[in-house]
Amino acid sequence: MIREMTDADLDRVVRLEQKIFSSPWSLRNFRYELNDNPFANLYVYEADGEIAGYCDLQIKFENADLALIAVAPEYRRSGIAQEMLDFMIDLAVRAECEIISLEVRKSNEPAIRLYEKNGFIQANIRKNYYSDNHEDAYLMIKPLGGF
Ligand code: COA
Repeated sequence: MIREMTDADLDRVVRLEQKIFSSPWSLRNFRYELNDNPFANLYVYEADGEIAGYCDLQIKFENADLALIAVAPEYRRSGIAQEMLDFMIDLAVRAECEIISLEVRKSNEPAIRLYEKNGFIQANIRKNYYSDNHEDAYLMIKPLGGF
């Protein structure tokens, strides 16, 4: 089940974030995103009372930016990211966005497959995008209806 993220989720989300990412968002980053960033839309995927995944779509006028999508290792390959992505694409369409964009590490094969399967294309390369290992990012975009 997908539902809005709340402050009560943050400890569990941050623990997951630290497990999943090499440059994780901090509790402070999540607090800002949840409570102070007017563009952010944060959701969690709950399974068996656990947080199995979470995501964040920043809607900025005609552009939607997929800022975050992650699934706990033990819940992967069961369609959870696909469900969250469908949900966020729908959010962007309902907000009348023209495009969804995101950055992904060049080496992140699972995520790139997920995005390509959903109609995202590689639009550009952002050199040295990630500060932890200077890895390049692909900028991927998905034009939405009417664009
Ligand atoms: N290898 C290849 N393709 C993969 C994959 C893998 N390990 N995992 C997912 N995919 C692709 C496939 O196209 C898959 O469709 P299929 O099952 O019909 O082949 C599609 O994604 C949907 O898979 P799903 O089960 O919904 O993905 P998931 O719930 O396992 O989550 C990630 C995928 C990328 C979100 C997950 O691996 C993750 O959290 N990774 C770490 C965080 C991260 O990298 N986030 C993205 C940052 S840009």
